[in-house]
Amino acid sequence: MKMKKLTALLLASVMALSMAACGSTPTSNDNSSQDSSSAESSSDTAEGSEASDSSDAADSSQASDSSDAADGSQASDSSDAADGSDASGEAEGFTTAVEGKLTMATNAAFPPYEYVEGGQVVGIDAEIADAIAGKLGLELQIDDMEFDSITEAVKGGKADLGLAGMTVTPDRQEEVDFTVSYATGVQVIIVNEDSDITSADDLFAEGASHVIGVQRNTTGDIYTTDDIEKKELGTIDRYSKGADAVQALKTGKVDCVVIDNEPAKAFVAEVEGLKILDTEYITEDYAAAMSKDNTALYEAVNTALQELIADGTVQGIIDKYITAE
Ligand code: ARG
Repeated sequence: MKMKKLTALLLASVMALSMAACGSTPTSNDNSSQDSSSAESSSDTAEGSEASDSSDAADSSQASDSSDAADGSQASDSSDAADGSDASGEAEGFTTAVEGKLTMATNAAFPPYEYVEGGQVVGIDAEIADAIAGKLGLELQIDDMEFDSITEAVKGGKADLGLAGMTVTPDRQEEVDFTVSYATGVQVIIVNEDSDITSADDLFAEGASHVIGVQRNTTGDIYTTDDIEKKELGTIDRYSKGADAVQALKTGKVDCVVIDNEPAKAFVAEVEGLKILDTEYITEDYAAAMSKDNTALYEAVNTALQELIADGTVQGIIDKYITAE
């Protein structure tokens, strides 16, 4: 629950830049052969050195080999070879929802993590999933759905993983297994520029009675329900998309919106007269949600993701969309 004003200010000030970055990063939904640019661009950033010493050669092969057997090279290049094989396309033992494919459930209304551009789902999560699929020798398929359907899709085996800027929470951990965390999110508060809400504390103050807009079943919903609605300090209006909550703010139906910082920046950049408060609500970890019943696939995906984090690929993807933290 710590406030990081400086970060928020920085985030706000680079909004324009990060939006520019969003616009210039095409990626693919369903075709792993296109992922070479995303994976390559990041292979040698700082994080790469700390864990496995995967070489540059490993990175470039993984980017291009997703559909065939070239994975052998990347497995042998990683120093921790014990699990290297798990992440390889030849590692059998795992099954996926659709043979040969890695099916990702998401809600593509959450820029820059996932959004629709040119009829395709693009964004940080799409690129990370594409890189994971590449490592596993699978083709990525993205299924766009309501945010609150993702967990069910994963649990029921219709999707192999839920990747949706999804926060790890204890309740969700009872339903699904989360991979390692690949990013941090911060719940922030969006208000109209002339709002009398000036800090998070105003929402929790005795006698407060605000209407708070959220995306249904997100952590913004969960936290404000507990902290505000249940304490009778206000009411929560739940929308199917974050952008709809923001529109409701613009038209005065709600007094503020509680949502993750990166989509908040994207929405505020598009709608005149709104701002993000400097005080943050809560910091959280994003991870991929997977079925508890498919341990082999979980191991393969989690290992692949760990390798992509260790070699800097994930940070490189994030940096393409988010200019500064
Ligand atoms: N981080 C929040 C949560 O896990 C919001 C995620 C919303 N993601 C989306 N793709 N709409 O609840």
